[in-house]
Amino acid sequence: MSSVPGQEKNTEERLEEAERLHFQKIVNSFKVYKDHSFSVINRKENYIKNLPNEHQKLLTKNGYTDMLKELRTCVEANNQIVAHILRDVENVFENSKHKNKGEKDKRTIPTGNDLERVQSCLKQLVRDWSEDGALEREQSYSKIIYKLCELYKEEERSQIKVLVPGAGLGRLAFDIAKSGFECQGNEFSLFMLFTSNFVLNKCKTENTFKIYPFIHNFCNNVSDSDQLKSVTFPDVNPNSLPEDSKFSMAAGDFLDIYNDLDYLNSQDCVTTCFFMDCAHNILDFIQTIYKVLKPGGYWINLGPLLYHFSDMPGESSIEPSYDCVKNIIVDFGFEFLEEEKNIVTNYDQNPASMLQYQYKSVYFCCKKK
Ligand SMILES: C[S@@+](CC[C@H](N)C(=O)[O-])C[C@H]1O[C@@H](n2cnc3c(N)ncnc32)[C@H](O)[C@@H]1O
Repeated sequence: MSSVPGQEKNTEERLEEAERLHFQKIVNSFKVYKDHSFSVINRKENYIKNLPNEHQKLLTKNGYTDMLKELRTCVEANNQIVAHILRDVENVFENSKHKNKGEKDKRTIPTGNDLERVQSCLKQLVRDWSEDGALEREQSYSKIIYKLCELYKEEERSQIKVLVPGAGLGRLAFDIAKSGFECQGNEFSLFMLFTSNFVLNKCKTENTFKIYPFIHNFCNNVSDSDQLKSVTFPDVNPNSLPEDSKFSMAAGDFLDIYNDLDYLNSQDCVTTCFFMDCAHNILDFIQTIYKVLKPGGYWINLGPLLYHFSDMPGESSIEPSYDCVKNIIVDFGFEFLEEEKNIVTNYDQNPASMLQYQYKSVYFCCKKK
């Protein structure tokens, strides 16, 4: 069926509008960080005002009311980082410019989920760019980088293209580039892209910034200091890559970008870390990885199968077990070279919290036949 030219333009315009509104919604989510965080604290303080006098005195005597006040100071400090993240955000993409117009459209009002995503960006800064995140990176990223370095000698690495889909705040991709490989990270979340843009392009020295990543976690704290803990970042100078290193971040959906014919058989390696379970249909991810790899190319994966869309209202999802996924990977034309199960991995954990999640992740390295 041929399309009517006028209608085609409308679709394009609609897509552009949706993109622009989405961009503005994420900007707004960062912008309201302080007010939203203050309103949470206000609600607690107002509740305390209505408690029996005796209870109020006990809460004051034992430091709870002071702790709430201190949280406000920490929110102010975090908000300074948020301001850095938002500065020049309209220039974050090389190939398109979005204006931060402060648009009032209803569709740009952040949802509760959006507000939480801003808070989780702060925690992700700990995982990717602080000394406190060293253990999590050791558990996950080091294993992938070790394998890459085992596969390729130092002198050949600059010719080896490594793709990191679902790159988050970019540390794995950065460390791969630092090990001498040509590396492209890919990420579609604007929350992540805005934050990684700040770290990778604007932080020029080590440990110059401070955040309070755990202030929004009101539960399972042993001491006030666990909630009020500060973390400095970045632990490495993101500007420290050698002049001739090839490192980039590509913004957009992995499936949209890398199914383009330009990328067919283009990569020597794909590394996925806590990414494969982000798919509605994991087979789409496997197939795309297969397509972008050169024949004989390697796929190194580490992570659990916490299928992100499972049980999400209105979202389609399938959740094959690891054994099933493994057979599918083989059926697509991969050969398993290495596999390890039960790898203890943490993700964005406050080590002091009384609640600890731990994944028994699976690691594998396979080869496109
Ligand atoms: C669980 S996080 C893992 C981030 C990082 N690899 C790490 O280990 O910390 C998964 C990331 O993949 C991104 N992501 C999910 N689906 C994606 C897609 N289709 N294209 C690009 N990025 C995607 C998410 O936005 C998120 O940042």
